[in-house]
Amino acid sequence: MDLDKAIKERHSVRSFKKTKKIAYQQVIEAIVAASKAPLAGSIAAIYYVLVQDKEKIKALAVAAQQDFVEDVDYVVVICADRKDLERNYYDRGKMYAHQEAGAAIENMLLKLTELGLATCWVGAFSEETVKRVLTIPDSIDVEALLPIGLELGKLAGIKDLKRVSGSLVFTGNEFSPYIMSMDGSLTLDSAAYKGYTYRNIN
Ligand SMILES: Cc1cc2nc3c(=O)[nH]c(=O)nc-3n(C[C@H](O)[C@H](O)[C@H](O)COP(=O)(O)O)c2cc1C
Repeated sequence: MDLDKAIKERHSVRSFKKTKKIAYQQVIEAIVAASKAPLAGSIAAIYYVLVQDKEKIKALAVAAQQDFVEDVDYVVVICADRKDLERNYYDRGKMYAHQEAGAAIENMLLKLTELGLATCWVGAFSEETVKRVLTIPDSIDVEALLPIGLELGKLAGIKDLKRVSGSLVFTGNEFSPYIMSMDGSLTLDSAAYKGYTYRNIN
C-alpha cells in the first residue's frame, strides 16, 4: 500500500471481529515502524508494552472505561520515559516526550492500516490503573493504548464526513483566523480554532 492510500484509509476502529486471530509478527512489524519515528536529539523515550494476557486486556478496558478495548487479542501500550529528554532539554523535555509518542503512534497507525489491521488511539484512561495492571514505574508516563484487531464491517462514508468537519490549517504565518479547507480555499473565521469540531469548512 502506498503512503497516500494508508493516510487516506486510516481511521479509528471501535468494533472488532471476535473470532479472527492476528499474527504476532504483524504486531511486531507495527511496533518496529513506530520505533522509526523521529526522536528529539536521538533520545528514545518511548517504550512499547505488548499486552496479550486476556485478563490484563480486560483490566485496560476498565481503566479506559471503553469496552471495545477488551475485544482484541493485543493492546500496545505506549509509554514515555522523559527523564533523559528533561536532562537535555529541561522543561521542553516533557513536551518532546509527548511529541515522540505522537509521532511513534501515527507511524504505528499507518503501518497497521497497511497491514489491514484495525486500531483506535485511546488516550482517555486512568493512568494510575494502567500502571498498576502493567507494573509500570511511577516515573514513566503512559501516553496511549492501542488495541489491535480486525475491523468488524465498515461504516461507508464516515471518513468523508469526518474530513469535512475536521482539520484546520492556519495559513497566515501565525495562529491566524484564516483557515484552509481540504480543497485549498481560504476562509476568514476568527472563531475557527475555538469551535473547530463540527464546523463545515467547505
Ligand atoms: C490524543 C488522542 C486521544 C484519543 N483518545 C481516544 C479515546 O480515548 N477513545 C476513542 O475512542 N478515541 C480516541 N481517539 C481517537 C479519536 O476519537 C479519532 O482519531 C477522531 O475521532 C478522528 O477519527 P479518525 O481517527 O477515524 O480519523 C483519540 C485520538 C487522539 C489523537
